[in-house]
Amino acid sequence: MTSVATDISVDGQGLSDRLAALASIGEIEGTDGACRLALTDEDRDGRDLVVTWMRDLGMEISIDGIGNVVGTLAGAEPGPPVMCGSHIDTVRTGGRYDGNLGVLAGLQVVEAVQRAGITTRRPLAVGFFTDEEGSRFPPDMLGSLVYTGEMPLEEALDIVGTDGAVVGEELDRIGYRGPAPCPSPAPHAFVELHIEQGPILDTEDIVIGAVTGVQGISWTEITVAGQSNHAGTTPMDMRHDAGWVATRIAVFVHELATEFGPPQVCTVGRVELHPNLVNVVASDAVLTVDMRNTDDDLLTEAENRLAAFLEELAAESGTGITSRRLARFAPVEFDPDMIRLVEKAAAELGFSHRRLCSGAGHDAQMFAPVCPTSMVFVPSWEGISHNPFEHTEPEHLEAGANVMLRVMLELAEIAEASEVQATSGATSGATAEETAGATA
Ligand code: GLV
Ligand code: MN
Ligand code: MN
Repeated sequence: MTSVATDISVDGQGLSDRLAALASIGEIEGTDGACRLALTDEDRDGRDLVVTWMRDLGMEISIDGIGNVVGTLAGAEPGPPVMCGSHIDTVRTGGRYDGNLGVLAGLQVVEAVQRAGITTRRPLAVGFFTDEEGSRFPPDMLGSLVYTGEMPLEEALDIVGTDGAVVGEELDRIGYRGPAPCPSPAPHAFVELHIEQGPILDTEDIVIGAVTGVQGISWTEITVAGQSNHAGTTPMDMRHDAGWVATRIAVFVHELATEFGPPQVCTVGRVELHPNLVNVVASDAVLTVDMRNTDDDLLTEAENRLAAFLEELAAESGTGITSRRLARFAPVEFDPDMIRLVEKAAAELGFSHRRLCSGAGHDAQMFAPVCPTSMVFVPSWEGISHNPFEHTEPEHLEAGANVMLRVMLELAEIAEASEVQATSGATSGATAEETAGATA
């Protein structure tokens, strides 16, 4: 293998420009952020822009049945690519970096390789995966779950969103149900650049995080059925108050996290009350509980404690309480060699670095069981994310992209000139049939 040339680097300004252009689709006025919920018109417009950029770079586009898009740059040899990627859907209050960075930095990597006149031995691929956020269509990481075979395509297509829309119908509507197979063949390796979305790197003034894994995630939707009644006339001991029950659940999970201590976290992020009026006892509540822990046994214990509490609370409040699991992912550990590669690249480029575990869920965690995988983190200003004011300094974006570039080149190997000539015309391994139906 030839060593990685030190003079290859990404165009940092080009990366910032692309991030800004993508954030202008679904822009949240007065902020840097954007709202491109999965499979909405804004998501489609963002997809179209990124696909255009991929095409302009001469990448071969493949779109699968759940709308995952992979652009591939042929290598000197066919075979599984070294893949990077992330997502371009956002939460409703999204920043411009979450997910988008990993995808657009991948394009900068491809551009840097082309500018340097290099051909890699293995193909390079950049993917963006459908509905990573899961806030419209739970669970999160839906596209990468299907890509790696963890969820059957048919099951994913039938998922009904928070607004009543159905995944398969929305994919058809926006023109992103493609012909490439699911599950797709595993790449040679997968690396995802992402903002940390937490405070560690920013607080410690460290540029690069070498990500060791992702903590376990448990999402539950709870429905409370009580009785609406007059807020002024109904004695407190005669109520079946769904609003009070929802509040008790929120307090319970907060106290549970405090009792368990870090890294246990619990969040009630969505509460809907009906009829939601000032002078009416609420008849119904629907709320979500997000619980996470790096220790799967502790996460299971937290789930069991919540289930027991819900039973007691139903009896005490005279309401009906039902729950449904929206997502459950065990903690994931990344490949030790891949983690070391990230550290090595950061050290060679002179960036401060440390290991850390991810608090957020990521597409990379779905790739971990099928190929060597790790992630590169860069600092998030004040640890703020899932917020339009999410910010990462341009030099940190560039640093992360350059670390990813080195990792990808090391994995893909730079081909000797003689190999490039001998194999010119080698394809990426994507079939003509796969790409023929690319709809964007
Ligand atoms: C994805 O952003 C998650 O961690 O919820
Ligand atoms: Mn993300
Ligand atoms: Mn996110």
